[in-house]
Amino acid sequence: MTPALDVVRRRVRLDPRDPGFFNDPYRAYAAIHEASPVFFWEDYGFWCFARHADVSALLRDRRFGRQITHLMSRAELGWPEPKPHLQPFDALERHSILELEPPEHTRLRNLVNRAFVSRRIEKLGPRIAALAHERIDRFAHEGSADLVAEFAAPIPVAVIADLLGVPRQMGRELVDWSHRMVAMYQFGANREVEERAARAARAFADFVRGFARARRGDLGDDLISQLLIAESDGGRLSEDELVATVILLLNAGHEATVQAIGNGVKTMLEGGVDPRLAFAGESATAATVEELLRLDPPLHLFQRHALEEAEFAGVRLRKGDRIGLLLGAANRDPARFPHPDAFDGGRSPNPHVSFGAGIHFCVGAPLARLELSVALPILFARLPGLRLAEAPRYRDTFHFHGLEALRVEWR
Ligand code: HEM
Repeated sequence: MTPALDVVRRRVRLDPRDPGFFNDPYRAYAAIHEASPVFFWEDYGFWCFARHADVSALLRDRRFGRQITHLMSRAELGWPEPKPHLQPFDALERHSILELEPPEHTRLRNLVNRAFVSRRIEKLGPRIAALAHERIDRFAHEGSADLVAEFAAPIPVAVIADLLGVPRQMGRELVDWSHRMVAMYQFGANREVEERAARAARAFADFVRGFARARRGDLGDDLISQLLIAESDGGRLSEDELVATVILLLNAGHEATVQAIGNGVKTMLEGGVDPRLAFAGESATAATVEELLRLDPPLHLFQRHALEEAEFAGVRLRKGDRIGLLLGAANRDPARFPHPDAFDGGRSPNPHVSFGAGIHFCVGAPLARLELSVALPILFARLPGLRLAEAPRYRDTFHFHGLEALRVEWR
């Protein structure tokens, strides 16, 4: 879908729920890059930035933050009062590092970082490989499969459950709660979505609270135990913070990775990328993974608030104004990436912003990279001649850019 662009006034009309757009946002991004990479997106009602330089700078610019209600009241912002039926959901968001600003963000992020050290992550490689083989064993003889359901979805949730120390058998329930909560971030979430999210948030929080309490007397090497014993500046995590952090890690830990695996396989198959070259050794694999993440990232739009009156790229913003950072568009900026739409396994440097930047840079990036670089080569090695069985379609959630299904066949 081509956006309706008013170049002079830098305004764009583009319905994020239009299948033509969410199935291929890159055509619209190309038009936007050419005509007006700084624009007011009328459907959202805020200024958006598509240039790589702008998105990278804004992610690091401390005049902008995720949170604003610590500086302005809802009345000053012109926001309605919090909806009572959303209380369980809002209660988790209140302590989520993704939604916090320093100094709370710094304290919680340090605790999570400490629990998320690279040696703990690296140790997961063999487990990810075993999981990938296990999944493929189930369908290899069939000659066709939906790789989202059969391969991409089950691996990340099992990995994050292991890492946190939550029983893998909880996987189905965790995914279900997580889907309902994440649906809140879609464009135009309605009352039904809100109520489902609130119920899921309550059930999820009750589970984690009970689980963590039981764990307190029986600490192990898992991340929940580490969070329980972690201390920063002499202060432990409060129980509410611990619950919100574990839920954020469980949700963030699989939602985006599932989509990154599905999108990555699709990009390779559509682009005719030769897996023998793409995965010929560690550095080729790492470069392939970065390029797949650049070309079709799972998260496309993040918002920030102006924490003070600010001017950026010729746009004057008042304190409290929202802005949109288009990660997926920044990754295809022709000013930063030569031949931005082409897969280039040797692209170097590859400063994509799929994991964000600045203080909220993805905590899970090393884990996501490891999952992709272990699971994808195994998939292509085990299923030679892998090809698309039908044109893949994306889900109707522009922000969470991922496939409904990925039907493939092999010899
Ligand atoms: C390919 C997979 C992934 C992608 C593309 C991704 C992307 C992102 C992005 C763009 C942000 C920054 C959001 C912002 O600036 O507002 C972020 C933050 C975050 N991610 Fe990821 N993520 C992925 C996987 C993971 C995994 C596996 C985990 C956990 C195990 C995780 C945990 C987090 C957390 C906790 C934050 C918040 C960090 C903070 O606010 O300080 N992510 N992620």
